[in-house]
Amino acid sequence: MIEINQLSKMYPGGKGIKDLSFEVKQGEIFGFLGPNGAGKTTTIRILMGFLRPDSGAAKIRGRDTWQERTGLKRIIGYLPGELHFFDRLSAQEILLLFIQMHGNHSKLKENYKKLIKRFDLDIRQPVWKMSKGMKQKLGLISAFMLNAEILLLDEPTSGLDPLMQKVFIDLVLEEKEKGTTVLMSSHQFSEIEKTCGRVGMIREGELLTVEDIAQLKQIKRQTFDIRTKNEEAAQYLRQSGLHILHEEGLSFRIETSGNLNVLWRVLAETQIEEFHQQPLELEETFMQYYH
Ligand SMILES: Nc1ncnc2c1ncn2[C@@H]1O[C@H](COP(=O)(O)OP(=O)(O)O)[C@@H](O)[C@H]1O
Ligand SMILES: [Mg+2]
Repeated sequence: MIEINQLSKMYPGGKGIKDLSFEVKQGEIFGFLGPNGAGKTTTIRILMGFLRPDSGAAKIRGRDTWQERTGLKRIIGYLPGELHFFDRLSAQEILLLFIQMHGNHSKLKENYKKLIKRFDLDIRQPVWKMSKGMKQKLGLISAFMLNAEILLLDEPTSGLDPLMQKVFIDLVLEEKEKGTTVLMSSHQFSEIEKTCGRVGMIREGELLTVEDIAQLKQIKRQTFDIRTKNEEAAQYLRQSGLHILHEEGLSFRIETSGNLNVLWRVLAETQIEEFHQQPLELEETFMQYYH
């Protein structure tokens, strides 16, 4: 559905994307993961036909994204990384305007009403009064309401609270059921992991790798902080075969990779006072990948 072939785009400052190649199949949810400045937005803007590549090509349904930018926009639902709406209009006016631009279909009006409810957005407020999170909801509603064949979502959960992140994840999973093709960028591994089948990792404009999420999970190491109740339990833990990174008194930092069965067994058989999982940052996932 999306083919990116040796795509390069350099900005005057010498930053951009270099020789990027990957593809997203029809019905696939593809995560585009990388730190700030990696080139995610640049790639998505080329797919939208806002930027012309220096060399290489991007195609959607076999059509060049620059040459056919006008026609292709009809089949794409797009969430920009930076949202700019007309400040004086209300969310409702903006959404109705988008619906008009898309042929005023009654189905779209139904969709938009459902989405407003799910995102719990007050549509009467003018944009200039809206918080970053509210604008993000408005952006998401305008992308999801279109029943588009393809969704291009640039950092879709930025500014959303955890409850709304959950709403977003549910919506993506529903799109997956419908067979929509989704490309979403993120700098957080956790949200990609919940929705995507494959992930492309990009850094400094270059694609490092494309991986199956299921395979990444196998190599994903996790660290846990555990405090045992007494010295006897601490001794048990030391002999358990778990990989201890660090210990001090009754406190341990444990590392696991892939299979958590041993950890669960030890936890069940030992007196544990505290247990805490260290959140896994993107950079660590990158580093682990290299290891
Ligand atoms: N219009 C521009 N002019 C010059 N440099 C730019 C421009 N847009 C982006 N860049 C630079 O290109 C690199 C990639 O940016 P971007 O695609 O926005 O990354 P990401 O979305 O992954 O954070 C960054 O170093 C950024 O500073
Ligand atoms: Mg960006």
